[in-house]
Amino acid sequence: MAFQRVGIMSIGEMGFHWAKLLKSHGVEVLTYDKDRGEVSRKRAANAGVTSVPSMNTLVKEAEVIVSIVVPSAAKKVAAKVAKAALKTGRKDLLFCDANAISPMTADAIAAVLAPAGVSFVDGCIIGSAARMGKGTIVYLSGPEAERLRGLEAFNIPLKILGPSTNQASAFKVIYAGLTKGFQGLFCELLMGARKFGLLNEIRAQYEESFPGLLDKVSGSIIGLQIHAGRRAEEMDELKRTFNSHGLDSFMAPAAQKVLRAIAALNLGQASDSGARHGELAETLELFYERGLLRTKAPAGNS
Ligand SMILES: NC(=O)c1ccc[n+]([C@@H]2O[C@H](COP(=O)([O-])OP(=O)(O)OC[C@H]3O[C@@H](n4cnc5c(N)ncnc54)[C@H](OP(=O)(O)O)[C@@H]3O)[C@@H](O)[C@H]2O)c1
Repeated sequence: MAFQRVGIMSIGEMGFHWAKLLKSHGVEVLTYDKDRGEVSRKRAANAGVTSVPSMNTLVKEAEVIVSIVVPSAAKKVAAKVAKAALKTGRKDLLFCDANAISPMTADAIAAVLAPAGVSFVDGCIIGSAARMGKGTIVYLSGPEAERLRGLEAFNIPLKILGPSTNQASAFKVIYAGLTKGFQGLFCELLMGARKFGLLNEIRAQYEESFPGLLDKVSGSIIGLQIHAGRRAEEMDELKRTFNSHGLDSFMAPAAQKVLRAIAALNLGQASDSGARHGELAETLELFYERGLLRTKAPAGNS
Protein backbone atom coordinates (compact mmCIF):
# COMPACT_ATOMS: atom_id res chain seq x y z
CA MET A 1 0.00 0.00 0.00
CA ALA A 2 1.33 3.45 -0.90
CA PHE A 3 2.28 5.75 1.96
CA GLN A 4 0.38 8.93 2.76
CA ARG A 5 2.62 10.52 5.41
CA VAL A 6 6.37 10.07 5.15
CA GLY A 7 8.89 11.56 7.59
CA ILE A 8 12.28 12.56 6.16
CA MET A 9 15.29 13.37 8.31
CA SER A 10 16.69 15.65 6.88
CA ILE A 11 16.03 17.89 3.90
CA GLY A 12 19.59 18.03 2.53
CA GLU A 13 20.31 17.68 -1.20
CA MET A 14 19.00 14.12 -1.41
CA GLY A 15 16.16 14.66 1.10
CA PHE A 16 14.97 17.63 -0.96
CA HIS A 17 14.63 15.53 -4.10
CA TRP A 18 12.83 12.76 -2.18
CA ALA A 19 10.46 15.33 -0.71
CA LYS A 20 9.69 16.93 -4.08
CA LEU A 21 9.06 13.53 -5.66
CA LEU A 22 6.76 12.36 -2.84
CA LYS A 23 4.89 15.66 -2.82
CA SER A 24 4.32 15.40 -6.57
CA HIS A 25 2.49 12.14 -5.82
CA GLY A 26 0.29 13.79 -3.18
CA VAL A 27 2.18 12.42 -0.17
CA GLU A 28 2.46 14.58 2.95
CA VAL A 29 6.14 14.90 3.84
CA LEU A 30 7.05 15.70 7.45
CA THR A 31 10.34 16.64 9.00
CA TYR A 32 11.69 17.89 12.30
CA ASP A 33 14.12 20.64 11.38
CA LYS A 34 14.15 23.06 14.32
CA ASP A 35 17.78 22.20 15.03
CA ARG A 36 18.88 22.19 11.37
CA GLY A 37 20.83 24.84 9.48
CA GLU A 38 19.15 27.59 7.55
CA VAL A 39 19.75 26.00 4.14
CA SER A 40 18.04 22.75 5.15
CA ARG A 41 15.09 24.62 6.67
CA LYS A 42 14.71 26.76 3.53
CA ARG A 43 14.92 23.67 1.35
CA ALA A 44 12.18 22.04 3.40
CA ALA A 45 9.95 25.09 2.99
CA ASN A 46 10.64 25.23 -0.77
CA ALA A 47 9.72 21.58 -1.18
CA GLY A 48 6.45 22.07 0.72
CA VAL A 49 7.57 19.86 3.62
CA THR A 50 5.63 20.18 6.89
CA SER A 51 7.97 21.14 9.70
CA VAL A 52 6.59 19.51 12.87
CA PRO A 53 7.23 21.00 16.33
CA SER A 54 9.01 17.99 17.88
CA MET A 55 10.50 14.56 17.25
CA ASN A 56 7.57 13.15 19.25
CA THR A 57 5.12 14.62 16.73
CA LEU A 58 7.15 13.26 13.82
CA VAL A 59 7.20 9.78 15.34
CA LYS A 60 3.47 9.91 16.13
CA GLU A 61 2.37 11.12 12.70
CA ALA A 62 4.65 9.50 10.10
CA GLU A 63 3.95 6.02 8.75
CA VAL A 64 7.62 5.66 7.94
CA ILE A 65 10.69 7.78 8.68
CA VAL A 66 13.51 7.76 6.14
CA SER A 67 16.91 8.90 7.39
CA ILE A 68 18.89 10.74 4.69
CA VAL A 69 21.59 12.64 6.54
CA VAL A 70 25.36 12.87 6.59
CA PRO A 71 26.62 9.36 7.39
CA SER A 72 28.21 10.53 10.65
CA ALA A 73 24.76 11.59 11.95
CA ALA A 74 22.96 8.35 11.03
CA LYS A 75 23.19 6.73 14.45
CA LYS A 76 22.23 9.94 16.27
CA VAL A 77 19.07 10.27 14.17
CA ALA A 78 18.10 6.66 14.87
CA ALA A 79 18.66 7.25 18.59
CA LYS A 80 16.37 10.31 18.52
CA VAL A 81 13.67 8.30 16.77
CA ALA A 82 14.01 5.47 19.30
CA LYS A 83 13.77 7.90 22.20
CA ALA A 84 10.64 9.54 20.77
CA ALA A 85 9.05 6.14 20.04
CA LEU A 86 9.60 5.06 23.66
CA LYS A 87 8.23 8.35 24.95
CA THR A 88 5.12 8.36 22.77
CA GLY A 89 4.50 4.62 22.97
CA ARG A 90 4.41 4.40 19.14
CA LYS A 91 4.73 0.73 18.25
CA ASP A 92 4.28 0.14 14.51
CA LEU A 93 6.78 2.71 13.21
CA LEU A 94 8.97 1.83 10.28
CA PHE A 95 12.44 3.40 10.03
CA CYS A 96 14.68 3.21 6.99
CA ASP A 97 18.29 4.33 7.10
CA ALA A 98 19.21 5.24 3.51
CA ASN A 99 22.69 6.58 4.23
CA ALA A 100 26.12 5.52 3.03
CA ILE A 101 27.10 3.87 6.33
CA SER A 102 29.12 0.78 7.12
CA PRO A 103 27.33 -2.47 7.99
CA MET A 104 28.79 -2.07 11.50
CA THR A 105 26.92 1.24 11.87
CA ALA A 106 23.77 -0.43 10.50
CA ASP A 107 24.15 -3.10 13.22
CA ALA A 108 24.49 -0.36 15.84
CA ILE A 109 21.32 1.34 14.54
CA ALA A 110 19.40 -1.97 14.69
CA ALA A 111 20.50 -2.33 18.31
CA VAL A 112 19.34 1.22 19.15
CA LEU A 113 15.91 0.79 17.54
CA ALA A 114 15.02 -2.73 18.72
CA PRO A 115 14.32 -1.88 22.40
CA ALA A 116 11.96 0.91 21.22
CA GLY A 117 9.97 -1.52 19.05
CA VAL A 118 10.77 0.42 15.84
CA SER A 119 11.03 -1.78 12.73
CA PHE A 120 14.34 -1.15 11.00
CA VAL A 121 15.01 -1.45 7.27
CA ASP A 122 18.58 -0.96 6.09
CA GLY A 123 18.82 0.97 2.84
CA CYS A 124 21.11 2.75 0.42
CA ILE A 125 20.67 4.98 -2.58
CA ILE A 126 22.52 4.38 -5.84
CA GLY A 127 22.28 7.29 -8.24
CA SER A 128 22.18 11.04 -7.94
CA ALA A 129 19.69 13.15 -6.00
CA ALA A 130 18.61 14.93 -9.18
CA ARG A 131 17.63 11.58 -10.70
CA MET A 132 15.23 10.60 -7.92
CA GLY A 133 12.13 9.36 -9.73
CA LYS A 134 14.17 9.10 -12.95
CA GLY A 135 16.25 6.02 -12.28
CA THR A 136 18.00 6.44 -8.94
CA ILE A 137 17.60 3.09 -7.18
CA VAL A 138 16.93 2.34 -3.53
CA TYR A 139 18.33 -0.94 -2.24
CA LEU A 140 16.85 -2.39 0.95
CA SER A 141 17.48 -5.28 3.29
CA GLY A 142 16.09 -6.79 6.46
CA PRO A 143 13.01 -8.77 7.43
CA GLU A 144 10.74 -5.70 7.19
CA ALA A 145 12.03 -4.47 3.81
CA GLU A 146 8.87 -5.56 1.93
CA ARG A 147 6.90 -3.03 4.00
CA LEU A 148 8.57 -0.26 1.96
CA ARG A 149 7.20 -1.61 -1.35
CA GLY A 150 4.72 1.27 -1.27
CA LEU A 151 7.54 3.58 -2.40
CA GLU A 152 7.44 1.98 -5.85
CA ALA A 153 4.17 3.82 -6.48
CA PHE A 154 6.25 7.03 -6.49
CA ASN A 155 8.68 5.96 -9.24
CA ILE A 156 11.34 4.87 -6.77
CA PRO A 157 12.78 1.59 -8.06
CA LEU A 158 13.34 -0.75 -5.08
CA LYS A 159 15.59 -3.77 -4.90
CA ILE A 160 15.45 -5.99 -1.86
CA LEU A 161 18.80 -7.60 -1.20
CA GLY A 162 18.18 -10.04 1.63
CA PRO A 163 17.04 -10.64 5.19
CA SER A 164 19.86 -8.98 7.19
CA THR A 165 19.63 -5.41 8.43
CA ASN A 166 23.16 -4.63 7.28
CA GLN A 167 23.23 -5.98 3.73
CA ALA A 168 22.13 -2.76 2.03
CA SER A 169 24.93 -0.88 3.82
CA ALA A 170 27.46 -3.55 2.85
CA PHE A 171 26.16 -3.31 -0.73
CA LYS A 172 26.70 0.46 -0.83
CA VAL A 173 30.22 0.31 0.59
CA ILE A 174 31.19 -2.49 -1.82
CA TYR A 175 29.60 -0.66 -4.76
CA ALA A 176 31.51 2.49 -3.83
CA GLY A 177 34.69 0.41 -3.84
CA LEU A 178 34.33 -0.15 -7.57
CA THR A 179 33.71 3.47 -8.48
CA LYS A 180 36.52 4.75 -6.26
CA GLY A 181 38.75 1.83 -7.25
CA PHE A 182 38.36 2.74 -10.94
CA GLN A 183 39.20 6.35 -10.12
CA GLY A 184 42.39 5.37 -8.26
CA LEU A 185 43.49 2.84 -10.87
CA PHE A 186 42.89 5.14 -13.82
CA CYS A 187 44.68 8.05 -12.14
CA GLU A 188 47.72 5.92 -11.38
CA LEU A 189 47.96 4.38 -14.85
CA LEU A 190 47.30 7.64 -16.66
CA MET A 191 50.09 9.38 -14.71
CA GLY A 192 52.38 6.64 -16.04
CA ALA A 193 51.10 7.13 -19.58
CA ARG A 194 51.63 10.88 -19.29
CA LYS A 195 55.24 10.28 -18.18
CA PHE A 196 55.91 8.34 -21.40
CA GLY A 197 54.02 10.83 -23.61
CA LEU A 198 51.40 8.17 -24.33
CA LEU A 199 48.32 9.63 -22.72
CA ASN A 200 46.18 9.95 -25.86
CA GLU A 201 47.35 6.63 -27.20
CA ILE A 202 46.49 4.69 -24.02
CA ARG A 203 43.14 6.47 -23.70
CA ALA A 204 42.33 5.45 -27.29
CA GLN A 205 43.27 1.83 -26.59
CA TYR A 206 41.27 1.74 -23.34
CA GLU A 207 38.30 3.01 -25.35
CA GLU A 208 38.86 0.33 -27.98
CA SER A 209 39.13 -2.46 -25.38
CA PHE A 210 36.57 -1.17 -22.84
CA PRO A 211 34.20 1.12 -24.75
CA GLY A 212 32.74 3.92 -22.63
CA LEU A 213 34.46 2.90 -19.38
CA LEU A 214 36.88 5.81 -18.99
CA ASP A 215 34.17 8.19 -20.18
CA LYS A 216 31.90 6.96 -17.39
CA VAL A 217 34.61 7.41 -14.77
CA SER A 218 35.98 10.70 -16.10
CA GLY A 219 33.38 12.93 -14.36
CA SER A 220 34.32 11.46 -11.00
CA ILE A 221 38.05 11.76 -11.75
CA ILE A 222 37.48 15.47 -12.44
CA GLY A 223 35.51 15.66 -9.15
CA LEU A 224 38.53 14.28 -7.27
CA GLN A 225 39.95 17.80 -7.22
CA ILE A 226 37.35 18.49 -4.53
CA HIS A 227 36.21 15.11 -3.22
CA ALA A 228 39.40 13.00 -3.07
CA GLY A 229 39.69 13.26 0.73
CA ARG A 230 36.12 12.09 1.44
CA ARG A 231 36.42 9.28 -1.11
CA ALA A 232 39.70 8.14 0.46
CA GLU A 233 37.81 7.88 3.78
CA GLU A 234 35.18 5.70 2.09
CA MET A 235 37.92 3.31 1.05
CA ASP A 236 39.00 3.15 4.68
CA GLU A 237 35.40 2.29 5.58
CA LEU A 238 35.42 -0.49 2.99
CA LYS A 239 38.63 -1.91 4.43
CA ARG A 240 37.26 -1.74 7.99
CA THR A 241 34.07 -3.47 6.82
CA PHE A 242 36.04 -6.36 5.36
CA ASN A 243 38.42 -6.60 8.31
CA SER A 244 35.66 -6.60 10.90
CA HIS A 245 33.98 -9.45 9.03
CA GLY A 246 37.09 -11.65 8.82
CA LEU A 247 38.20 -10.67 5.30
CA ASP A 248 41.42 -9.10 4.12
CA SER A 249 41.28 -6.10 1.82
CA PHE A 250 44.17 -5.19 -0.47
CA MET A 251 42.54 -3.17 -3.25
CA ALA A 252 40.68 -0.69 -1.04
CA PRO A 253 43.84 0.51 0.76
CA ALA A 254 45.61 0.87 -2.60
CA ALA A 255 42.80 3.02 -4.02
CA GLN A 256 42.78 4.95 -0.76
CA LYS A 257 46.50 5.77 -1.15
CA VAL A 258 46.03 7.20 -4.64
CA LEU A 259 42.98 9.21 -3.56
CA ARG A 260 44.86 10.49 -0.50
CA ALA A 261 47.77 11.54 -2.69
CA ILE A 262 45.32 13.53 -4.83
CA ALA A 263 43.77 15.08 -1.71
CA ALA A 264 47.28 16.09 -0.57
CA LEU A 265 47.68 18.20 -3.74
CA ASN A 266 45.20 20.61 -2.11
CA LEU A 267 43.51 21.53 -5.33
CA GLY A 268 40.84 23.26 -3.30
CA GLN A 269 37.17 23.91 -3.25
CA ALA A 270 34.68 24.04 -6.11
CA SER A 271 35.47 27.17 -8.08
CA ASP A 272 33.85 29.22 -10.81
CA SER A 273 35.74 27.15 -13.34
CA GLY A 274 33.88 24.29 -11.61
CA ALA A 275 36.09 21.25 -11.13
CA ARG A 276 33.17 18.98 -12.04
CA HIS A 277 32.73 20.76 -15.34
CA GLY A 278 36.40 20.67 -16.35
CA GLU A 279 37.89 18.33 -18.90
CA LEU A 280 39.53 15.02 -18.07
CA ALA A 281 42.70 15.95 -20.02
CA GLU A 282 43.05 19.23 -18.15
CA THR A 283 42.49 17.51 -14.78
CA LEU A 284 45.12 14.86 -15.51
CA GLU A 285 47.56 17.55 -16.63
CA LEU A 286 46.96 19.42 -13.37
CA PHE A 287 47.58 16.24 -11.35
CA TYR A 288 50.77 15.63 -13.33
CA GLU A 289 52.07 19.19 -13.00
CA ARG A 290 51.45 19.11 -9.25
CA GLY A 291 53.56 15.96 -9.02
CA LEU A 292 50.93 13.32 -8.34
CA LEU A 293 52.62 9.98 -7.49
CA ARG A 294 56.07 11.40 -8.19
CA THR A 295 58.75 9.87 -6.00
CA LYS A 296 61.59 12.08 -4.79
CA ALA A 297 64.26 10.51 -6.99
CA PRO A 298 63.35 8.38 -10.03
CA ALA A 299 64.45 4.77 -9.45
CA GLY A 300 67.76 4.00 -11.15
CA ASN A 301 68.95 7.63 -11.18
CA SER A 302 71.94 8.35 -9.06
N1 LIG B 1 23.44 13.81 -2.92
C1 LIG B 1 23.47 12.73 -3.68
O1 LIG B 1 23.43 12.80 -4.93
C2 LIG B 1 23.48 11.36 -3.02
C3 LIG B 1 23.55 10.22 -3.84
C4 LIG B 1 23.51 8.95 -3.24
C5 LIG B 1 23.41 8.82 -1.87
N2 LIG B 1 23.36 9.94 -1.08
C6 LIG B 1 23.27 9.76 0.38
O2 LIG B 1 22.29 10.59 0.95
C7 LIG B 1 22.71 11.02 2.24
C8 LIG B 1 22.58 12.54 2.32
O3 LIG B 1 23.42 13.12 1.35
P1 LIG B 1 23.16 14.63 0.85
O4 LIG B 1 23.95 14.79 -0.39
O5 LIG B 1 21.71 14.95 0.86
O6 LIG B 1 23.89 15.44 2.02
P2 LIG B 1 23.69 16.97 2.42
O7 LIG B 1 23.18 17.78 1.27
O8 LIG B 1 24.94 17.37 3.08
O9 LIG B 1 22.51 16.93 3.50
C9 LIG B 1 22.68 16.33 4.76
C10 LIG B 1 21.49 16.69 5.64
O10 LIG B 1 21.67 16.05 6.91
C11 LIG B 1 21.40 17.01 7.91
N3 LIG B 1 22.04 16.65 9.16
C12 LIG B 1 23.36 16.79 9.50
N4 LIG B 1 23.54 16.38 10.78
C13 LIG B 1 22.33 15.99 11.25
C14 LIG B 1 21.86 15.51 12.49
N5 LIG B 1 22.70 15.30 13.52
N6 LIG B 1 20.54 15.23 12.62
C15 LIG B 1 19.69 15.43 11.59
N7 LIG B 1 20.07 15.88 10.38
C16 LIG B 1 21.37 16.16 10.21
C17 LIG B 1 21.91 18.31 7.32
O11 LIG B 1 21.38 19.41 8.03
P3 LIG B 1 22.20 20.78 8.22
O12 LIG B 1 21.80 21.65 7.09
O13 LIG B 1 21.76 21.29 9.55
O14 LIG B 1 23.66 20.44 8.18
C18 LIG B 1 21.36 18.19 5.91
O15 LIG B 1 20.00 18.54 5.87
C19 LIG B 1 24.14 10.52 2.45
O16 LIG B 1 24.15 9.40 3.29
C20 LIG B 1 24.60 10.18 1.05
O17 LIG B 1 25.52 9.13 1.04
C21 LIG B 1 23.39 11.20 -1.62
